[in-house]
Amino acid sequence: MPQTVVIATGNAGKVSEFNTILKDGTFSFLVSKEIGFYEEIEETAKTFKGNAEIKAKTVFEYVSSKQKDYWVMADDSGLEVEALGGRPGVFSARYAGENASGKDRYTKLLKEMEGLANRNARFVCCLCLIRPGSPPEFFEGECKGTILTEPRGNGGFGYDPVFLPKGYAKGFGEMSDEEKNSLSHRGRAIKNMLEGLNEKKN
Ligand code: IMP
Repeated sequence: MPQTVVIATGNAGKVSEFNTILKDGTFSFLVSKEIGFYEEIEETAKTFKGNAEIKAKTVFEYVSSKQKDYWVMADDSGLEVEALGGRPGVFSARYAGENASGKDRYTKLLKEMEGLANRNARFVCCLCLIRPGSPPEFFEGECKGTILTEPRGNGGFGYDPVFLPKGYAKGFGEMSDEEKNSLSHRGRAIKNMLEGLNEKKN
């Protein structure tokens, strides 16, 4: 029987990546709203780790009153741009306002970076996993790269069309899901999580 994991997010782009990466049947995923959790969780922490923990704990509290053996996983992620002192960082989702689209966000970023020579950036992902009876566990992944001067491709989500990973000719927006997942911050954080879980099993 696969282990049921509730993903504490409403972000379809993230869910699709979890499903693609973790498709070997070990886990079966539900998103928060599928178990009746519709609340917007306020991300009040200053770090990815802090926000991932807030989201996982809030949903775990709700889930554990209904299903004792479900795990809960939250992802907090974002883009840190060197020339902007690490912004948008934990504010990546809110960078262009609450109801902005991915396109609104990267268009604002390109505008803010117009004429900047230093285009170094990195995507960061922190996963918080809560298993019943255990303290929260954290797994991180990063992907370094640069911000393009114009969007390329329309794959992925969020800032993908303007991110060129270091050492690659194709941007995230031009890659297949498999290509992106093999090197992305989220792909790496998930790999770290699977290795961590395997170590504990052995
Ligand atoms: P949060 O983790 O819900 O706070 O949202 C993180 C935000 O960072 C997303 O809404 C995207 O705008 C951006 N982001 C995170 N991961 C990715 C990615 O893999 N590609 C593009 N944008 C991302």
